[in-house]
Amino acid sequence: MVHSKRIGFDIQLDVSEVLSDAKWLAFIMRQLLTNSIKYSENSDIMIYSHEHAGQTVLEVQDSGRGIDPKDLSRIFDKGFTSTTNHRDNAATGMGLYLTKNAAESLFITIDVKSELGTGTTVTLTFPKRNDFVNITSM
Ligand SMILES: Nc1ncnc2c1ncn2[C@@H]1O[C@H](COP(=O)(O)OP(=O)(O)O)[C@@H](O)[C@H]1O
Ligand SMILES: [Mg+2]
Repeated sequence: MVHSKRIGFDIQLDVSEVLSDAKWLAFIMRQLLTNSIKYSENSDIMIYSHEHAGQTVLEVQDSGRGIDPKDLSRIFDKGFTSTTNHRDNAATGMGLYLTKNAAESLFITIDVKSELGTGTTVTLTFPKRNDFVNITSM
């Protein structure tokens, strides 16, 4: 059954440009947004960026079902979906695994904070410009 979820987006970008790989960064963002949409109903998804200690930080925050604390350390594992929601259709558990690998290659740190029933915030911290220049010159 197809049903509308009434999900909106609130985008506040204090930093609107970052030095990275466009294709892989788009892949990462697509995975995070897909998850937020998939695991939310009737709530907004917030996308924020700002500068912190010389690094660009990008947050994707949803008010969806959240992640059980006992699952949190496993969500980046290959094939992991959920220990409680066994009826998730179309959950493959590959998205965050591939996301983690892509982020590591780009020297992006990923942090996830989540509260069951409240929502999830994924934070991407980009490398300092100098670090990135060093990487690309390797
Ligand atoms: N924004 C989110 N809100 C709630 N649960 C999430 C969220 N993102 C990831 N998860 C949990 O982490 C698991 C792994 O995510 P992922 O690798 O993207 O797999 P999939 O999208 O196929 O379910 C999901 O199955 C889900 O249980
Ligand atoms: Mg996914």
